[in-house]
Amino acid sequence: MTAPLLEVSEIHTAYGLSRVLFGVSIEVGAGECVCLLGRNGVGKSTTMRSIMGLTPPQAGRVAFKGVDITGWESYRVARAGIGFVPEDRRIFADLTVWENLDVAQRGGGWTTERVFDLFPTLRQLTGRNGGYLSGGEQQMLTIARTLMGNPELLLLDEPSEGLAPLVVDHLDEQIARLKAEGLTILLAEQNTEFSLRLADRVYVLEKGAIRFSGAAAALRDNEALRHELLAL
Ligand SMILES: Nc1ncnc2c1ncn2[C@@H]1O[C@H](COP(=O)(O)OP(=O)(O)O)[C@@H](O)[C@H]1O
Ligand SMILES: [Mg+2]
Repeated sequence: MTAPLLEVSEIHTAYGLSRVLFGVSIEVGAGECVCLLGRNGVGKSTTMRSIMGLTPPQAGRVAFKGVDITGWESYRVARAGIGFVPEDRRIFADLTVWENLDVAQRGGGWTTERVFDLFPTLRQLTGRNGGYLSGGEQQMLTIARTLMGNPELLLLDEPSEGLAPLVVDHLDEQIARLKAEGLTILLAEQNTEFSLRLADRVYVLEKGAIRFSGAAAALRDNEALRHELLAL
């Protein structure tokens, strides 16, 4: 077995005195789509923030492609090849769709043209200001912007949150396409159905610790566990 692309080992993370993660370990292999599940407040976003160096862990280790990146500043983590799409869809409201993408351009595999192939809706909206997009369109733009940085690993924090079911189905197809193109994905979700459709493997968090890890199919088949650990 080759070394995982991302290896999170026993991380402990806190906000000031408030401890949130208690020894979380996660592995994501190249080309995998791994999902981090769990109810609101269990530490999914904090795990992603720990990986990105936004809230560095107090103990434990984060390695990317075998390199210890624990405590690196987030711009360095991004430059190393980890793209982060946070929960709050941080687009520039006063810039157009085109400008939002252009400022994120790094030179590399992803171009605006390729992004528009994946998100044809955005092609129709190039001149529109970010602030005037619907929730689903903003989510597409946030993902598109992050892709412009040519990540090898994409961290998606609750992309389906607040979106209408039809929009979620559409997003599901687009994420599946990214996976088919070989992008490695770590997805945090509360929407279990959405994530089980996409994920190869899942980790379920409860109170800052991993309570279940295994194949997505194993969780799909275990209704009692889903009931215990996930909001239904
Ligand atoms: N900036 C912060 N300062 C203090 N506590 C926080 C902060 N962000 C999150 N928390 C707390 O950390 C815990 C985990 O939050 P979070 O990682 O956002 O969970 P999830 O993403 O699974 O909903 C929660 O109890 C939350 O209130
Ligand atoms: Mg969260």
